[in-house]
Amino acid sequence: MTYEEAKELLSNHGQEQVLKFWETLTEEARAALLGQIASIDFESLERMKGLLNAAPSEGAADEGRPEAVAPEVVEWTDSLYAEAKAVGERELAAGRVAVLLVAGGQGSRLGYDGPKGAYGIGPLSGRPVFYFHSRKVLALCRRHGARVPFYIMTSEMNHEATVACFRENGYFGLDPADVIFFRQGMWPALDADGRILLDQPSHIFMSPDGHGGTLTALDRNGCLADMKRRGIEAVFYFQVDNPMVEIADAAFIGLHTMRKADISLKLVAKRDPKEGVGVVVKRGERFEMVEYSELSDEQANRRREDGELYFKYGSVAIHVFSRVFMEREARKAMPLHIAHKKISYCRDDGTVVKPEKANGCKFEKFIFDVLPDAGTVLNLAFDRAEEFSPVKNAEGNDSPATCRRDLQAKWGRWLGLPEDSQIPLEIDPAYALDADELRSKGIRLESL
Ligand code: UTP
Repeated sequence: MTYEEAKELLSNHGQEQVLKFWETLTEEARAALLGQIASIDFESLERMKGLLNAAPSEGAADEGRPEAVAPEVVEWTDSLYAEAKAVGERELAAGRVAVLLVAGGQGSRLGYDGPKGAYGIGPLSGRPVFYFHSRKVLALCRRHGARVPFYIMTSEMNHEATVACFRENGYFGLDPADVIFFRQGMWPALDADGRILLDQPSHIFMSPDGHGGTLTALDRNGCLADMKRRGIEAVFYFQVDNPMVEIADAAFIGLHTMRKADISLKLVAKRDPKEGVGVVVKRGERFEMVEYSELSDEQANRRREDGELYFKYGSVAIHVFSRVFMEREARKAMPLHIAHKKISYCRDDGTVVKPEKANGCKFEKFIFDVLPDAGTVLNLAFDRAEEFSPVKNAEGNDSPATCRRDLQAKWGRWLGLPEDSQIPLEIDPAYALDADELRSKGIRLESL
């Protein structure tokens, strides 16, 4: 993009201030700034400006819409599990399953300087979160004698460090040809007047466009085409911060396939009525995710006759998508979510100010906003103790300490140890992916 082209584009969108410091910039800085301008999605930018002045929808959200009801949630029975597992094993062995990890977030609550996946979570080895995810994918490849491509979404901020972590660790044993990194989109932030904020005279403040950016990013980076070429039908989706996740377990993949679902979600019984997880609801024929903060007190506390919460289950972003559904959704404009933030900005004289209070808006897309477009949705209950213990915070709940504790408790159960066992444990998922596999290796309590 040339200076003239950038100038015209910016003035068409009322953003001339982006080139305010042009005369003072070096050639290198000018080239970098033009690169940033060329990367901006101006169509979405216009939608963002529209949102700035829109009245908050709180309270009015339910008006004129069908009532939100709890959807059917499948709980495993032995026979359903066995049937689904067989179907999933067939799909995995045929190479029709891919794994998709979203790891573009900034992990600000954890406060770790690097991609969250590079954080050393191994209770004994200090091995990174990526190790545990990757070794599970490797175990799937070995168990089913098939290739399972592993797509990893990064952001501009953590791409190089993520790729370096895999390279330095020999891709954790995976075939590099089947580990595909792709960058998510970045969006500028706007001030109250809808103007793009510069955080340096030569630099536009940009931040990742949210996990909802996954579909566009998969499309733009050729990953959807790559999946199609490989014959992928089902895509297992998960977040980087949960080292306990059961990746593409055959029974979940199988039930998704049997139901011909567009999206399948694993749901967990909430710890308490106001736990900070999204809740899947049905309105008429359509499904949607309601964020915990948007549930009214009455909805959050409503009980069924048996005393269980009416909206009992929450989503922790463990999904299977049909590839065809992803393709369909990838080119649609998703809803935008706005967040008011403190964003460093440049004064007219070029000095950089760190504001004391929120001065700008960031925008994000959320993956679950595709739910209303899905024809068939499968909701499946899972056991938190077996599959979910996220690393979100530096301390307290959902921290590295609780995650290591829960990982060790799970491995301890495989060995038949009591819940309060203090024996330090760590199991390589590529050695044993589950209790049965561990037993088949002859590993028992008395052999430790
Ligand atoms: P979170 O909502 O926990 O955000 O992301 P975060 O950025 O990791 O952490 P905080 O809020 O700053 O502490 C949930 C999942 O979505 C991914 C994250 O990497 C994580 O796996 N994500 C989030 C993206 O891939 N891109 C984004 O823009 C946002």
